[in-house]
Amino acid sequence: MRTVYEGILDMLTFFLSVFFSGTSLAAVDSFYPPLNHTTYITNASLGTYGGVFSAPSDQASPTGNDVYNYCSMPHPHVDTYSVPRPIANHSVSAKLVYLEYLQRHQRRTPYNILPGGENQEYNCDAIHPHLFAAPAGQGPSPMQVYGQAYTDPTNPFLTTGSYINGTCQYPQLTIGGYLDGYQHGRDLHAVYSKKLGLIPESLKESDKTVFFRSSSAALTQGSAGGVLRGLWPEYTGPLPLHQQLASVDSVNRGFSCPVRDTILSAIQSTAEWNEHIEVTAGLRNQLAEMFDAQDSSAWLETWDHFADNFQGRLCNGYQLPCRLQDGSQCVSKMQAYEVFRAGDWMYNYWWRRNPNVTEYIQVIEGLFIAEIVRKFEAVQERRSEVVYSHTFAHDGDIAPMLGALGIRALRWPGMGSNVAFEIWETDEAEFYARVLYSGRAIETVHGVLEWVPLSSLIEILKVFIPEDIVGLCTSS
Ligand SMILES: *[C@@H]1O[C@H](CO)[C@@H](O)[C@H](O)[C@H]1NC(C)=O
Ligand SMILES: *[C@@H]1O[C@H](CO)[C@@H](O)[C@H](O)[C@H]1NC(C)=O
Ligand SMILES: *[C@@H]1O[C@H](CO)[C@@H](O)[C@H](O)[C@H]1NC(C)=O
Ligand SMILES: *[C@@H]1O[C@H](CO)[C@@H](O)[C@H](O)[C@H]1NC(C)=O
Ligand SMILES: *[C@@H]1O[C@H](CO)[C@@H](O)[C@H](O)[C@H]1NC(C)=O
Repeated sequence: MRTVYEGILDMLTFFLSVFFSGTSLAAVDSFYPPLNHTTYITNASLGTYGGVFSAPSDQASPTGNDVYNYCSMPHPHVDTYSVPRPIANHSVSAKLVYLEYLQRHQRRTPYNILPGGENQEYNCDAIHPHLFAAPAGQGPSPMQVYGQAYTDPTNPFLTTGSYINGTCQYPQLTIGGYLDGYQHGRDLHAVYSKKLGLIPESLKESDKTVFFRSSSAALTQGSAGGVLRGLWPEYTGPLPLHQQLASVDSVNRGFSCPVRDTILSAIQSTAEWNEHIEVTAGLRNQLAEMFDAQDSSAWLETWDHFADNFQGRLCNGYQLPCRLQDGSQCVSKMQAYEVFRAGDWMYNYWWRRNPNVTEYIQVIEGLFIAEIVRKFEAVQERRSEVVYSHTFAHDGDIAPMLGALGIRALRWPGMGSNVAFEIWETDEAEFYARVLYSGRAIETVHGVLEWVPLSSLIEILKVFIPEDIVGLCTSS
């Protein structure tokens, strides 16, 4: 049961969100909210700040809407894509010679199950997470087995908090996420194969001009399958998806680095951090009580878990949760939007605003940044056989990368969020870069990265490459 008051609040929020996404707020502004002050969190009239937080359960997300969309972030699309301005106005003649593409996996079920239990089932029957190993050469091909989640009804743990009815794992890619990935690939094909002729139209297993990589998580592998199929609908046969050893991976916090925790505690004990905790105390108490989270520091210390839980629902066609033991106590849109604004504030604080940000980015993403800088240098020195490299990773990789680029304001990078590093070579044999975030030139503290000498982009990034990561990680 919802109260009349909640109904009125939802209506108010609806009108305000129409107001913010329609009349006053340009689509681009939805990426750059005023995140420097905690009033962004508490000012209810900001709603979603023009952002979208919903998607259908069993279909691809609607495309053509260019706003921040947590469930399915915009990406380069032929309808909105244009070549860099100096090329468009014919003051420069240049061609695209290299694309480094980094994306978060597509939408999924949540990581975090409400401690008091979930009042709804998740259904993953429409997607089959495949798991099989095949001989690389001759040999019998495997049965195409897939993971089918189920539970034994006599399992006594079903009545404890960590269980959700239904047919999913947590997290796992959903059918909507897979379909979004396929569309993402189709759209990249239209821009970078058909329009610009960079990505090869047809593919070979041993093609040395392309390089694909994922973290070792099933989510990123599943997303790669969808996106790459969108790029090459006709390709048959296997394809290598490179993965570093999980224990030393330069993405998804693979390598061990104890100092990360030390830095994070410093970040999460500043006056500004504490202010955001204080101004959200009322909301935190309401939600903790509703979902029996009062004793869980993981649910109380940051807004990560509530945000993840609500996003997982709204991004897959479900409703916001109600208390399992009392269906009249439900999360309102107003409350969810405040949680999402707090999540945006938190990402901006972690990756842009805190006093330890440079060192924090170094220990989380410095190795990956070093790897892509070496690739840019190879292009500069004409040593690169690869023209297109695509990495499937996590929000915890996209966010520090955007932080390193100096993004003007950082909202939580949503599902499928993406950074495209385009390298262009002019007729004078000079290299320039453009950096697109979710399909448009990124706005940073260094200006809009629409057309910068490649050497300048490398200088921006080099600040975040630690000289001795092993030493830094084990220092105290
Ligand atoms: C917010 O803070 C960042 C980093 O401190 C700064 O570059 C930016 O200009 C600030 N934005 C506003 C709107 O004050
Ligand atoms: C809340 O946001 C609205 C819209 O931007 C603005 O007009 C108002 O001044 C803000 N209120 C506070 C208290 O910051
Ligand atoms: C073309 O665009 C660039 C970048 O906006 C600008 O600096 C330059 O003056 C423009 N040239 C012409 C001929 O319009
Ligand atoms: C979960 O499934 C069990 C068995 O079908 C049912 O008794 C229970 O009500 C379900 N719980 C929810 C929250 O749907
Ligand atoms: C964080 O930054 C502050 C201020 O610059 C500094 O004193 C402190 O040593 C840093 N903490 C860590 C863990 O790096």
